[in-house]
Amino acid sequence: MFTLGILTISDKGSQGERADESSIVIREVLGAYDVQVVKYGIVPDEAELISAKIVEWADKESIDLILTTGGTGLSPRDVTPEATLAVLDRSAPGFVEAMRAESLKKTAKAMLSRAVAGIRGGSLIINLPGSPRAVRECLEVILPVLPHAIEVLRGEVGECGER
Ligand code: MTE
Repeated sequence: MFTLGILTISDKGSQGERADESSIVIREVLGAYDVQVVKYGIVPDEAELISAKIVEWADKESIDLILTTGGTGLSPRDVTPEATLAVLDRSAPGFVEAMRAESLKKTAKAMLSRAVAGIRGGSLIINLPGSPRAVRECLEVILPVLPHAIEVLRGEVGECGER
């Protein structure tokens, strides 16, 4: 079992002007696992607000996995990667490398996502793109590895190669 925090980053969503379908997709896709969604929030594309939520959820709530959705692109207000990087202890680029590599087989626009991933304390934080379709496609890539990643992060698994 692991705990999950879902942070949607959207100016329109935070003002109630757009339904947050991406977080529903995250819940649905991760429903296949023994996951408890312990935190959910929507913030506008403001770096300080994004960083503060990640810090709170990692440091106070000790959430195993924090998935963000949105704000990873090139538009002037897209600051999710910078806000995430600012509060990471260690980078874990493999997740986003895999997401982009697999997504590029479906759409060349995958290269537009600047998503990052890494660790703060005992929390794994991964940026996902904003559209529901992109969320589903990217999550499906990293999904098989997530339970093991969290076990390793918790120190529950010593030898990766044994499993
Ligand atoms: N990745 C997948 N798998 N499928 C997609 O449709 N869309 C791309 C990209 N990654 C996409 C994807 C597009 S169009 C953009 S602009 C970037 O993600 C960034 O999205 P964001 O700004 O909503 O985070």
